[in-house]
Amino acid sequence: MTSIVTSPLKMQSTTLRWIREDCSIGFVPTMGCLHEGHLSLIREAKKRSDKVVVSIFVNPLQFGKNEDLSTYPRPFERDVELCREAGIDVIFHPSAKELYPRGFQTSINGGELTKMYCGKTRPIHFNGMLTVVSMLFDIVNPTFAFFGEKDFQQLFLIKQMCRDFHKPVEIVGMPIVREASGLAMSSRNTYLSEVQREQATCLYRAIERVKNEVKKGNPNTRDLIATARNLVAQTPGMQVDYVHLVSGKTLLPFGDRAIGPARLLLAAFIGQTPKVRLIDNAAIPF
Ligand code: PAF
Repeated sequence: MTSIVTSPLKMQSTTLRWIREDCSIGFVPTMGCLHEGHLSLIREAKKRSDKVVVSIFVNPLQFGKNEDLSTYPRPFERDVELCREAGIDVIFHPSAKELYPRGFQTSINGGELTKMYCGKTRPIHFNGMLTVVSMLFDIVNPTFAFFGEKDFQQLFLIKQMCRDFHKPVEIVGMPIVREASGLAMSSRNTYLSEVQREQATCLYRAIERVKNEVKKGNPNTRDLIATARNLVAQTPGMQVDYVHLVSGKTLLPFGDRAIGPARLLLAAFIGQTPKVRLIDNAAIPF
C-alpha cells in the first residue's frame, strides 16, 4: 500500500521507526511529472532497499525569478498512480509552507562549482537544490538515494555535499534514459512541440559525433568542443548555452588534452517564448 505523507514530522517518525526495525531505506527525490528516467531510479531503489520513499516537491528555492516555477508540470494524480504501480511505500509530498518553517534562513552553499556551467545561467539553482536535498535527507534518513546522471553537475554537487557533511547516505547515480530518438528524458520535454522534440535530438547527435571523432583518433579537446557546439548551433531553433569537456573526477575543464575520465556537458535553449533550456552529457572514452 502506497501512502501519501505531507508532514515532515510524520515522514521523519516513519523512517526512524523503519530504521529501528532494521529496514534499509531507498529514496528517490523528484519534482514530479515522473517519466521513464524516474521509474528506472525507483526500480533500482526497490531492488536495493526494504522500504522506498519518493518525494514529489517542486522546490521554489532552486528556481530563479524568471524561471518556470509557476508553470512546472504537476500531474500529481498520474504520479501517484505510477508510484502505486511501482509499489512505493510512501510518497512524501509536503507543501512549501510545511517544508520551510516560518522565518526559514539557513542554506547550503556548494562553493565555486555552483557558479559554473548550469550555474552561470541559473546562479541560485544549485544552492537551492542542495538546501532542499539536505533537508529531505534529514527527514527521510535514507540508506541509499538515487539520482539520474542527466543532471550530472547536480549529482556531483550532491556527492560533494554528502562527503563534506559526513551524511550517512550512499548516493547512487543512474544512467540517462533516452527516447528512441536519443533525446534524454526530462519533465521539461513536455514543453516541446513535435518539431522541437526532433530538433532537440541535436544534443545527442553532438555527443555521438564527439565519440566518433575520438574513436577516429582526434584527442584535441578544443576541436571536439567546437564540433559539438557547431552541430547544435546549426540546428534550427537551437541556441547553445555551453559545451564543455571536463574531468569526470573534478568536473573542471581540461586544457588541450583530456587526462583520465572525461565528460562532455552540453546545454542549449530551444524556442523563443517561452525559451526551454535542455541539458545532456556523456562519458567520453579517450
Ligand atoms: O532533480 C530534481 O528533480 C531536483 O533538483 C531535486 C533533486 C528533486 C531537488 O529538488
